[in-house]
Amino acid sequence: MNILVTGGAGYIGSHICVELIEAGHNVIVIDDFSNSKPEVLGYIRDITGRDVKFYEFNILDEEKTERVFQENQIDSIIHCAAFKAVGESVIKPIEYYTNNLTTTLIMTKMMRDYHVKNIVFSSSATVYGDPETVPLTEESRLGETTNPYGTSKAMMERILTDVQHAYKDMSVTLLRYFNPIGAHASGLIGEDPKGIPNNLMPYIMKVATGELPCLGVFGDDYDTSDGTGVRDYIHVVDLAKGHVLAIEKYTEPGVHICNLGTGKGYSVLEIVKTFEKVNGVKVNYEIKARRPGDIATCYADPTRAKQQLGWVAEKTLDDMCRDTWNFAKKQTCDK
Ligand code: UD1
Repeated sequence: MNILVTGGAGYIGSHICVELIEAGHNVIVIDDFSNSKPEVLGYIRDITGRDVKFYEFNILDEEKTERVFQENQIDSIIHCAAFKAVGESVIKPIEYYTNNLTTTLIMTKMMRDYHVKNIVFSSSATVYGDPETVPLTEESRLGETTNPYGTSKAMMERILTDVQHAYKDMSVTLLRYFNPIGAHASGLIGEDPKGIPNNLMPYIMKVATGELPCLGVFGDDYDTSDGTGVRDYIHVVDLAKGHVLAIEKYTEPGVHICNLGTGKGYSVLEIVKTFEKVNGVKVNYEIKARRPGDIATCYADPTRAKQQLGWVAEKTLDDMCRDTWNFAKKQTCDK
């Protein structure tokens, strides 16, 4: 298949490109490098031995986007391009809503006009809000999102669902990611956010390399085993493989919703300890106040992914910590 990956140079998008190529697909990427680097395209080639066809611009540029659909016979789309920093979204809601919603609308317009029947969308467990019960199934009630980023994900899901209802021969797949971490085993691609990281694993990585002095653990008084927040961390390569299966298997018209998580929750301190143990490094931390908007516990019921896609997360927390550190060391060597 010819598959367009929007945001294909980003953290998750680049891993998806690798898995798609390794499964025999042709990959076309649109990315504006707003949160990624051009080198990533070379790394994808180094890993797979094949090139992606690449276009550099923001999908808000509808004319350029349309040209991609004119020049290529696109069979399916994996839509990852979006702004994703929670804190920044609170400060820049207009930019976040404009970018995330408009690019999604433009994608749906191209699908309609160029008869593309299949889209897989990068959604997030954030759409469940503060869960009433865990594990979360796809039937769990959608919750109140606490920031414009999260709300934009919920709105993008809604836009895609309404479009499918109007164009009934389309297949729309909403993949709700839990907490993707880790990196490709080659150490060439991974997550290296610009500035101070918002998310736990990139922060741990930068404390371990000495780039940042100390991890703040946001709260130790949650109702969890050790009082710190519990999340379902999933290896980014497992996540990427889930996309390949979703694009290949969810071809029936309709709206398909699927969690991608491991089904197991780990606390912040468990992550810190595992990272230290697996990699033989020290991660300094101190307990801080809770972060506004955080929830105590969130993990997936991954049954549907197993039943419908034959997908299960294969990599362990040790793998996630080891691969993150392998990537970090390669980055430091290259700097
Ligand atoms: C966050 C976002 C979520 C988004 C996801 C992936 C919030 C409220 N939620 O999820 O919408 O989809 O990232 O981008 O921001 N932690 C620390 N210290 C840190 C960083 C994190 O203790 O420096 C803790 C958090 O309190 C949490 C856990 O680590 O318990 C995971 O945090 P994080 O990696 O930011 O992911 P989420 O908050 O689950």
